[in-house]
Amino acid sequence: MSRPVSIPSMAPLQPAMADITLTRDDMKFIAALVYEQAGIVIREHKEAMTRGRLARRVKALGMGSVAEYCAFLKTPQAAGELPELINAVTTNHTAFFRERHHFDHLRKEVMPRLLQERAGRRGRIRIWSSACSSGEEPYSIAASCREVMGARSDLDFKILATDIDTDILVRAEAGIYPAELFERLPADVKPLLKLESGAGRGEARISEDLRRLIAFKRLNLIEKWPMSGPFDVIFCRNVFIYFDTQTKASILDRFVALLSPGGFLYLGHSESLPQPHPHLRLIGRTIYERTA
Ligand SMILES: C[S@@+](CC[C@H](N)C(=O)[O-])C[C@H]1O[C@@H](n2cnc3c(N)ncnc32)[C@H](O)[C@@H]1O
Repeated sequence: MSRPVSIPSMAPLQPAMADITLTRDDMKFIAALVYEQAGIVIREHKEAMTRGRLARRVKALGMGSVAEYCAFLKTPQAAGELPELINAVTTNHTAFFRERHHFDHLRKEVMPRLLQERAGRRGRIRIWSSACSSGEEPYSIAASCREVMGARSDLDFKILATDIDTDILVRAEAGIYPAELFERLPADVKPLLKLESGAGRGEARISEDLRRLIAFKRLNLIEKWPMSGPFDVIFCRNVFIYFDTQTKASILDRFVALLSPGGFLYLGHSESLPQPHPHLRLIGRTIYERTA
């Protein structure tokens, strides 16, 4: 006897388009949540951008609207979604050797001085790239320092690279980028970024020699930091712009506490200290030295 054929109910060919309307109240709720979780201030005029970024999560979760997503975020079940929300709202724009003067200063002033100071014993050198995004910043640091250190094996050299965004850290750690990014680099820094052969078509991978100098970790700058330092150099570039004055001032105090005297702090191009800091001296374009 032939089995009855069951006819599945007709599923729509295309999933219904989600409603991405973002009400004023939902915008306020999201802004407060993101501030509380990451210290990031989302201003009212960023509403269109926020809506677009939330729409990505609405789609990924198969929800029908931004309103439904916001209602979900208010439930206890949403705890696991918070990191995804933060990943979605962070701006990760970066580039190799972005703000070139910092890497020139590191390579020509800081590293030769550190190598001289720490010659003859197992010299410990620590650098922190504190909002490292997809890795271009720590790899540019590694490339600049490697060039000065050469093959010296008497150094205990490490770069700590941290970011709040877990998705971007996975990309950073892989060290694989579109090959055109390297082709476009200025001729004098291009040879510093050593590449591996064998990456996929149109892609290039940073060499193991540079990758192993870096430890990538998730770290939220507004939470407690597990490291005790001291760091010789801290990069904190293009993330202060998302914070308010109070958050910036408190993070800055903690950077200073972790910097060794004579250590350097690099901020982003449009960033300056919220107010003069008693232990930081401006010595170049957004370059500060810890004085005592
Ligand atoms: C615009 S990117 C800057 C990348 C790099 N420093 C540069 O200047 O090219 C800002 C980075 O800060 C990270 N970020 C935002 N809020 C953060 C927080 N509270 N703690 C740590 N990182 C954060 C973002 O995930 C993003 O990758």
